[in-house]
Amino acid sequence: MLRWRIRLAHVGEGAMICPGVKIGFPKHVRVGAGTVIAGGVSCHAASQGFITIGERCAIAAYTKIITPTHDPAVLPVASVGINRSVTIGDDVWIGTAVLILPGVNIGSDAIVAAGAVVTRDVPPDTLVAGVPARIIKALPSREERFANGIKLKEQRREH
Ligand SMILES: CC(C)(COP(=O)(O)OP(=O)(O)OC[C@H]1O[C@@H](n2cnc3c(N)ncnc32)[C@H](O)[C@@H]1OP(=O)(O)O)[C@@H](O)C(=O)NCCC(=O)NCCS
Repeated sequence: MLRWRIRLAHVGEGAMICPGVKIGFPKHVRVGAGTVIAGGVSCHAASQGFITIGERCAIAAYTKIITPTHDPAVLPVASVGINRSVTIGDDVWIGTAVLILPGVNIGSDAIVAAGAVVTRDVPPDTLVAGVPARIIKALPSREERFANGIKLKEQRREH
């Protein structure tokens, strides 16, 4: 973790970046407190693109987050590089093998189902899935989900 603390723009307290995570342009990547990034995740920021991940998020294995792109109206394709920053709110769960495309903002408390390709912003408190990702359902309120978490912890302590 120490090497990421030195290299990244910000790593919040208790954040965990597992072995096997790849980060391009680490000085353009911020990871909030308590967030866990699993092995095999790739955060591909670039010279003018930033990736901001909020607090207490879980980013599952093999997910890719990228900021660089090109303008489809311009040839040759690689002549103009564009960077669009990606922002992920607090308490977001990104499932395994998700692809988050440049310019996407994912609202707090959202869930992105495994295998989704996220091309548009995701509103807070929603579950999205598929290619391209679409809203599957609205999630219970943040308060209700945190209360469920506390209940579950208490039940586990009793058994
Ligand atoms: C999204 C997820 C959490 C399930 O949430 P859920 O609220 O229990 O959702 P349901 O299983 O009731 O599915 C609701 C609908 O979404 C669809 N769906 C669920 N997961 C999907 C996925 N990954 N991709 C596409 N559609 C999906 C279901 O088929 C269902 O569609 P239907 O209503 O037409 O039958 C789960 O499918 C998932 O993707 N988990 C991620 C697991 C993972 O990545 N783990 C890594 C370690 S953390």
